Amino acid sequence: MHDVMENRLTSQEAMRMENEYGAHNYHPLPVVLDRGEGVYVWDLEGKKYYDFLSAYSAVNQGHCHPKIVNAMIEQTRKLTLTSRAFYNSVLGKYEQFVTDYFGYDKVLPMNTGAEAVETAIKICRRWAYDKKGVAPNAAKIITCEGNFHGRTTTIISFSTDPDSNSRFGPYTPGFEIIPYNDLDALSKALEDPNVAGFLVEPIQGEAGVNVPSDGYLSAAAQLCKEKNVLFLADEVQTGIARTGKLLCTQHENVRPDILILGKALSGGAYPVSAVLADNEVMMVIKPGEHGSTFGGNPVAGEVAIAALEVIRDERLAENAERLGGLFRDEMNKLKSECPLIQLVRGKGLLNAVIINDTPDSSTAWDLCVAMKDNGLIAKPTHGNIIRFAPPLVMTEAQLMECVAIIRDTFMAFAK
Ligand SMILES: Cc1ncc(COP(=O)(O)O)c(C=O)c1O
Repeated sequence: MHDVMENRLTSQEAMRMENEYGAHNYHPLPVVLDRGEGVYVWDLEGKKYYDFLSAYSAVNQGHCHPKIVNAMIEQTRKLTLTSRAFYNSVLGKYEQFVTDYFGYDKVLPMNTGAEAVETAIKICRRWAYDKKGVAPNAAKIITCEGNFHGRTTTIISFSTDPDSNSRFGPYTPGFEIIPYNDLDALSKALEDPNVAGFLVEPIQGEAGVNVPSDGYLSAAAQLCKEKNVLFLADEVQTGIARTGKLLCTQHENVRPDILILGKALSGGAYPVSAVLADNEVMMVIKPGEHGSTFGGNPVAGEVAIAALEVIRDERLAENAERLGGLFRDEMNKLKSECPLIQLVRGKGLLNAVIINDTPDSSTAWDLCVAMKDNGLIAKPTHGNIIRFAPPLVMTEAQLMECVAIIRDTFMAFAK
């Protein structure tokens, strides 16, 4: 009975049900995805699309990567969840693997990106009290305008996006917001001896792929070091090969004191996030002081190992670097012919095209709907910015086919 119903479901019906029974906390593009493989997804009617969002960069390894799916199936058959009340036979192996992979002493496993950010904030505050000698409850964390670190009440307390935080107060204290990509502002903020950490995205993804000036991250890390302040990199979106290196901070040879990962740590198969740090920082947390029922579960461990092996074995950082350069070259060519494009920016395969219209115009949305009709799905952010972030397993031939779809759609619109 269930199968019959599922087979009969149309896209219209699926959208109607989401609209009727789900909270309206998203405004999806009108396409209902039913199946995915590599760089492709299919809707309920069997139409095929190139995915240019990759679930906000969670599906870097491509949809339903067989190695990741198999790891999940095998472990799911054996043992799914123990909680951390007991040891499990996967966690230690995963912890050794992931700390070796990223070069840190310790990992603290969580599930979602926001939880990992919350974890990093707690570790940073505790470090400030135990190691830096900040007075109780006086620790401050510096964050940046335009940030996106998740949706919890503490995280939105330092958001500057009214959609994220208005009428959700009262807000958590202990954060100072400075302009992004502004070393003078950072320098000034660091004069306060109560500053415990600087939390930053190496590229602001949700803000519209806002790439800071060359040298910003390395100079910011150096300033933090001089003031005995932890440098916290939120690489939930930029990490795991997305920008052409395993971590975006590696473009500037920065090694964060606290590294925050999520999304593609599982290749999109399962919610897996992590905070990595050295002993000096991580060991401030003692048993019972932080945790999560699902964090560190054996399925997550096996999935993450497989997902990270895929990144390495298939040389996805190198592919992202090469195809990203090609994509920006092609988009800049299009910009010179098409008045709809104001700017092209990005790193690796995390790119954005700024549409030559106001943020409250519907141009970017209409372009995304037209691209969808032509077989490529992407989503606008902040009104007039379209992010282009395909799975990193894309080939050059596929990328050029996508460039043609984008070009044809934009040129038809510009007429
Ligand atoms: C930089 C960054 N941090 C944190 C998050 C939150 O991750 P999650 O949605 O898994 O909580 C996101 C999600 O887009 C993100 O881009």
